[in-house]
Amino acid sequence: MGVGILVEDLNAWYGSTHTLQDINLHIPANHATALIGPSGCGKSTFVRCLNRMHETNPIARATGVVKMGEVDIYRDASPVEIRRRVGMVFQRPNPFPTMSIYDNVVTASSSTASATAASSTRPSSAH
Ligand SMILES: Nc1ncnc2c1ncn2[C@@H]1O[C@H](COP(=O)(O)OP(=O)(O)OP(=O)(O)O)[C@@H](O)[C@H]1O
Ligand SMILES: [Mg+2]
Repeated sequence: MGVGILVEDLNAWYGSTHTLQDINLHIPANHATALIGPSGCGKSTFVRCLNRMHETNPIARATGVVKMGEVDIYRDASPVEIRRRVGMVFQRPNPFPTMSIYDNVVTASSSTASATAASSTRPSSAH
């Protein structure tokens, strides 16, 4: 079962350039939603704000609220937790250049499986 996404007053910048201005949007659960617009209007920037990839750019910042179901992704969860849950297919392929395509694909899924196994075997009292 999927969860809906609620975006409230989302603003995003690259340096002093105000790229996304006051975005308010409800994306319903279990539906396909498409963002359509001219090149450079901010579609990719918006999508990167939904999984906290925007903030990986040192000149970029964002304000506002993005809720995935009940989870406020900028306040209630770490970026790693959000990026693990919210997948993204990049506009341009960007595999690790020193690895084969096969290794690029299996490394991601095996490291996710290891992290899941490690967290499920960790005692609940561990710090
Ligand atoms: N890393 C960046 N640094 C500075 N400005 C950026 C960066 N990435 C995007 N921009 C600028 O932000 C604006 C929105 O770009 P974005 O890539 O989000 O648009 P888009 O709608 O996805 O375009 P396209 O349809 O070409 O993929 C553009 O003016 C772009 O030049
Ligand atoms: Mg784009």
